[in-house]
Amino acid sequence: MKQGKLTVVVKELSSGHFHVKTLIIFSLSMLVFIFVLGMLINDRTRKFLTSDDLFPQLKTFPSLSPWPPSTHCQCNFSLSSHLLPLSFSNPRGLLLKDYTAPKELWHSMSDEELFWQASMVPHIVEYPYNRTPKVAFMFLTKGRLPFAPLWESFFKGHDGFYSVYLHAAPDFKNEPPESSVFHKRKIPSQAVEWGKPTMVDAERRLLANALLDFSNERFVLLSESCIPLFNFTTVYSHLVNSNHSFVSSFDDPRNVGRGRYNKQMWPTVTLSDWRKGSQWFEVHRKLAIEIVSDPTYYPVFKDFCLPPCYTDEHYLATLVTKVGLGMNSNRTITWVDWSTGGPHPTTFVRKDVTESFLNRLRHGFNCTYNGGMSSICHLFARKFHPSTLEPLLKIAPALFGFNT
Ligand SMILES: *[C@@H]1O[C@H](CO)[C@@H](O)[C@H](O)[C@H]1NC(C)=O
Ligand SMILES: *[C@@H]1O[C@H](CO)[C@@H](O)[C@H](O)[C@H]1NC(C)=O
Ligand SMILES: *[C@@H]1O[C@H](CO)[C@@H](O)[C@H](O)[C@H]1NC(C)=O
Ligand SMILES: *[C@@H]1O[C@H](CO)[C@@H](O)[C@H](O)[C@H]1NC(C)=O
Ligand SMILES: *[C@@H]1O[C@H](CO)[C@@H](O)[C@H](O)[C@H]1NC(C)=O
Repeated sequence: MKQGKLTVVVKELSSGHFHVKTLIIFSLSMLVFIFVLGMLINDRTRKFLTSDDLFPQLKTFPSLSPWPPSTHCQCNFSLSSHLLPLSFSNPRGLLLKDYTAPKELWHSMSDEELFWQASMVPHIVEYPYNRTPKVAFMFLTKGRLPFAPLWESFFKGHDGFYSVYLHAAPDFKNEPPESSVFHKRKIPSQAVEWGKPTMVDAERRLLANALLDFSNERFVLLSESCIPLFNFTTVYSHLVNSNHSFVSSFDDPRNVGRGRYNKQMWPTVTLSDWRKGSQWFEVHRKLAIEIVSDPTYYPVFKDFCLPPCYTDEHYLATLVTKVGLGMNSNRTITWVDWSTGGPHPTTFVRKDVTESFLNRLRHGFNCTYNGGMSSICHLFARKFHPSTLEPLLKIAPALFGFNT
């Protein structure tokens, strides 16, 4: 109707005729139009300003709903809540400490979610706090730790310079006492089969959990049969001051090396890329991030490196040559004796453990360290039978320089 009247006016204006009656009707209808429009806008505005949906946070804020969500919540975490660090029970909200030294290890993230979060790198290079680099000691075990008393003495008095992570069988429920460095240090774990890709899954899971602590700078993988060969001070300064990581990586032309290469890995992994190495690695933060965020090589190993190809003996050794950035020493920091042959290295028993034996492992080698020569080539050793704990606890205090 309004439109019709408008047309009339336009028509009459253009034709030069001018009717007062038409003008009045036009003006009236415009007024009605503006009035209705005004009411509409006014109504909308009022609704807009009082809407409950617009500021739900503001509205719920005074009711003290648990945000960040309390750790006591029995519900499953959604992906967005994984963006928050793992210990957010502080009533004052998030603290920087929650990122730099998270207290709570446990979470319900899937590996995919965990690796994604662990791959994050700060874009601001300067730390907004006094950062002491920590060494992450990652124990890949079935659960039991026969050398726990030795490790306890090793760590004693060095709080703030290390963190401990434990991957155990999922059904392993024993919790070490509160006084132990292993107390509540178990990460969400999954079953591991010897020589299968699940072993590397566990290694990457340990790395990813340790990466969530921004203060961890060096990451060392240890087994339940590993022992330290030096005191904490020596181990810490050797690792933190090293310009290289310690991932064993070499080209083995034999059947047990190149022979395990699967042509189906080509062209992602070629035979000239193919390396072998000990599973027991030590990496710096940069390389650790590469390992948990590798989208290219790991899927190929998972598909095509199956027994008698052992993923844990080839994946990292090969990966470091692809992304290693020249920062790898190509040797392991964990001594082991393969001299007797066979699929497993020698296990040392009670009678083997003497001061001269340990000193041979501590100083009986020459290797390069930061471009110079060093007689310290191994900081850890394996495999030790649980029966060696007693002699080790007797010899270690004087030899290593720590109290038991
Ligand atoms: C939590 O997640 C697990 C595994 O994804 C699922 O089995 C379980 O039903 C979930 N629980 C709740 C309360 O949603
Ligand atoms: C480690 O091996 C790679 C090749 O596999 C080599 O490029 C690199 O220089 C080696 N690193 C050292 C410290 O010798
Ligand atoms: C290591 O080097 C030193 C000095 O060059 C030498 O005396 C020693 O015999 C070497 N040790 C071994 C195990 O090669
Ligand atoms: C280690 O690397 C740093 C920085 O890249 C360099 O300044 C230093 O000289 C290196 N140290 C040795 C012993 O190679
Ligand atoms: C730790 O071991 C080093 C030698 O590796 C030694 O010089 C130092 O005194 C020891 N520290 C303690 C506290 O005994």
